[in-house]
Amino acid sequence: MFFVFPSPDAIAEHLAQHLLELIRNKPDCRLGLATGSTMEPVYARLLQHKDACPDLSQLRTFNLDEYIGLPAKHPQSYHYYMCQHLFNHLGLDKTQINLPNGMCSNLEQECANYSATIAKAGGLDFQLLGVGTNGHIGFNEPGTPFDSLTHVIELSANTRLDNSRFFDSPKEMPTHAITMGIKDIMDAREVILVATGEHKAETMNLLYRSPADPAMPASVLKLHPNARIYLDPAAASRLPEEALYHVE
Ligand code: GLP
Repeated sequence: MFFVFPSPDAIAEHLAQHLLELIRNKPDCRLGLATGSTMEPVYARLLQHKDACPDLSQLRTFNLDEYIGLPAKHPQSYHYYMCQHLFNHLGLDKTQINLPNGMCSNLEQECANYSATIAKAGGLDFQLLGVGTNGHIGFNEPGTPFDSLTHVIELSANTRLDNSRFFDSPKEMPTHAITMGIKDIMDAREVILVATGEHKAETMNLLYRSPADPAMPASVLKLHPNARIYLDPAAASRLPEEALYHVE
């Protein structure tokens, strides 16, 4: 399941083409989208191909997660990220995009509604994933049960440290988030996880060696019938050659 591409840009190009093909084949498809620096080249590539974009009017998107306590207009909210990197440029209508609302006064209800909205839409055709250095997917931190639906999570010290680089001061970094659950992710018909850079190499090594175990959330993908992991050479550098499929 480990595919190695020559560069992050090659992954981005491949994924952009894949997303376009998905939408062409199923104009009303439901895409699960991710944030993080890994996804920036992917969305940039997709926008480069904007002219080749099929009709997007029936598309619906569902983001994995959102910080609790950051309004949509906060530059570090995932809502803001998605608008900046993708939604504004594709001209998607508000009714087509879904992100958990981390400002909701009834978070429990918000979580239940989010999973229910995905299910009511017929489930996700495709889920894009990044990965935290501790193996989290979405914000499903180590120890999250595999049968979890959308829920509130306290961010681990590791995640707070990793992600505080985006905030002016570490104190601004939220302590909690809403994340799609592992079951929501696993219910997607196709999943692709992307990891790039040397700082993800040890995470990929642990993922390769781990059985499907909540201690390494990304390892759940080993139980998915249609999941792939896309790596650049740096992220793949600690994996044995026999585990890798090289994509030209
Ligand atoms: C955050 C997000 C994850 C993402 C991870 C990796 O924690 N919740 O969905 O996969 O960051 O981010 P990056 O791509 O910046 O390494």
